[in-house]
Amino acid sequence: MEFPLYRPRRLRRSENLRRMVRETRLSVDQFIYPLFAVEGRGIRNPVKSMPGVFQLSVDELVKEAASVQELGIPAVLLFGLPDRKDECGSAAYAPDGIIQKTVMALKERLPELVVITDVCLCEYTSHGHCGLLQGERVDNDATLEVLAKVALSHARAGADLVAPSDMMDGRIGAVRAALDQNGYSDTAIMAYAAKYCSAFYGPFRDAAESAPRFGDRRAYQMDPANAVEAIREVALDIQEGADIVMVKPALAYLDVIRLVRDEFDRPLAAYNVSGEYSMIKAAAANGWLDGERVMLETLLAIRRAGADLIITYFAKDAARLLQSQRIGN
Ligand code: PBG
Repeated sequence: MEFPLYRPRRLRRSENLRRMVRETRLSVDQFIYPLFAVEGRGIRNPVKSMPGVFQLSVDELVKEAASVQELGIPAVLLFGLPDRKDECGSAAYAPDGIIQKTVMALKERLPELVVITDVCLCEYTSHGHCGLLQGERVDNDATLEVLAKVALSHARAGADLVAPSDMMDGRIGAVRAALDQNGYSDTAIMAYAAKYCSAFYGPFRDAAESAPRFGDRRAYQMDPANAVEAIREVALDIQEGADIVMVKPALAYLDVIRLVRDEFDRPLAAYNVSGEYSMIKAAAANGWLDGERVMLETLLAIRRAGADLIITYFAKDAARLLQSQRIGN
């Protein structure tokens, strides 16, 4: 069909017409909100590089989670900042560790809220790497045992999903086996399947105090140049028992999201990471961009690329905006 027979503008003439032919929709159902837990009481430390994001003590985090639930957001993703770190990250699997306490408090107060826990060692090791070291190298197979212990301790505390983000080979299988052998066959796994070694994590490492003390994560996280390799990574995690797979970061990797969406039939999450959030917040604060519109356009683009779920620090802002738009229409 050619002009003048076909005029695409006909269906763009009014908001109602546009609404009727819109291909992609954003809904609060798709959002997962990350939260950072610290020891103590009454603590709400602002994260400087992430306006609107705080490190929260358990009591404050529960309040925050209640407001997240109030906005209709179905799930939170928890990161923990322990008060002590050691070589092997043992605070990560302590029964009374920061995440374990937070999960128990959330499950007691807000039993319906889906609680997802980050399973990694970088916040808990003194060297800041995501696994156990042998010299300056992260020892893959030794790390698997610890990760399985961490995941199991989260499941025991009541986590609905565990989310391994360490990028060790074989970790999904190790975590699945540990959960199943201990009676947690209903605890689901969201695998950070294609996680790239990205500079967009910069602000997160302030929030989680998890920057490596030496070197970088290139020897375990994916090379940003690779897309086909993402298919192999996702295939492995699915074989090993992942229930939800993830691509991370989102914005500079929309092609990878599309590739994974077309190749696999599992629910797909995308992580709209800290740097993606902070860039928009900073530009908006300078008056250089319309922060709200860019936020919605970004989230919509991640959905259009094929993500079913979006982990985003914008979840609350976006939920509020979607709510007001619904009332406005
Ligand atoms: C590692 C982890 C990281 C993020 C989530 N889990 C950081 C890293 O790999 O260095 C980054 C999230 C973000 O930037 O928002 N446990």
